[in-house]
Amino acid sequence: MIQATLPAPSLHDEIRQRQPWFHNLHLPDGTQTCPDHWLGDFPAFKWRQLEPHLPADLRGWNCLDIGCNAGFYTFELAKRGASVLGIDLDRHYLDQARWACSQFRLDHSVRFEQTQVYDLARRSEQFDLVLFMGVFYHLRYPLLGLDIVSQHVKRLMVFQSLTMPGEEVFAATRDRTMNERDLMTQPGWPKMAFIEHSFAGDRTNWWAPNHAAIEAMLRSAGLRVTARPGHEIYLCEPDPQSPSCTVTWDRAEFLSATGQEASP
Ligand SMILES: C[S@@+](CC[C@H](N)C(=O)[O-])C[C@H]1O[C@@H](n2cnc3c(N)ncnc32)[C@H](O)[C@@H]1O
Repeated sequence: MIQATLPAPSLHDEIRQRQPWFHNLHLPDGTQTCPDHWLGDFPAFKWRQLEPHLPADLRGWNCLDIGCNAGFYTFELAKRGASVLGIDLDRHYLDQARWACSQFRLDHSVRFEQTQVYDLARRSEQFDLVLFMGVFYHLRYPLLGLDIVSQHVKRLMVFQSLTMPGEEVFAATRDRTMNERDLMTQPGWPKMAFIEHSFAGDRTNWWAPNHAAIEAMLRSAGLRVTARPGHEIYLCEPDPQSPSCTVTWDRAEFLSATGQEASP
């Protein structure tokens, strides 16, 4: 009896089966997962802005890629020698990431987990490098998310967010009086636009902070901006001179918000 064997799916078939793609991965043979991406060669063009600011050799670095999607940044860090944990809440994107990981043969240094950014509050690992890119504005509770994430940063964090236009910074915000509230309407006062009913076709786009707000929130989370590698991208590091209020005077609120108990 002649047995019909189905031909193995081609790489293009496998990519098609896993559509839609948000990351245009360049697979080892040059095949791309989303060559007609509406943002261009995304996120390779962002990586080209960022990568000169990161160590070329990441051997021995333990990295976390939050909202890893199909794993573009995860793989780039792993190619530099890092161990990387990629987390995302979306199983579809994680399936893409796991499949692509085997294409790149990076399974020995990469792990993926389906989890929410808030779940990090119940984990104790510290990461040399945390990528927190393209996630902040998708959070309904963004500052809680940032406060949780910042507590896992040992050396560096890369933060990227959708923003409101404008580069102004109104710095004299310290302890103003009730009668000075008109200052809050200054373009450079730190602020976030709240998006109630979807934005760019995505109902999880909740917020758009301005540049001043991003800097202020990062500072308030105990981080210092050291570089701005590209539009909306901030490189930062823990600032021991100015720790987050969530580890000092506002600790009780943070513990309560994350379902943790204060030690007696
Ligand atoms: C705009 S994409 C950014 C992907 C990638 N970080 C980048 O910068 O190209 C947002 C990603 O974050 C994930 N995401 C959204 N909210 C999340 C949350 N609360 N916890 C973990 N991942 C989340 C989405 O599933 C999606 O893959």
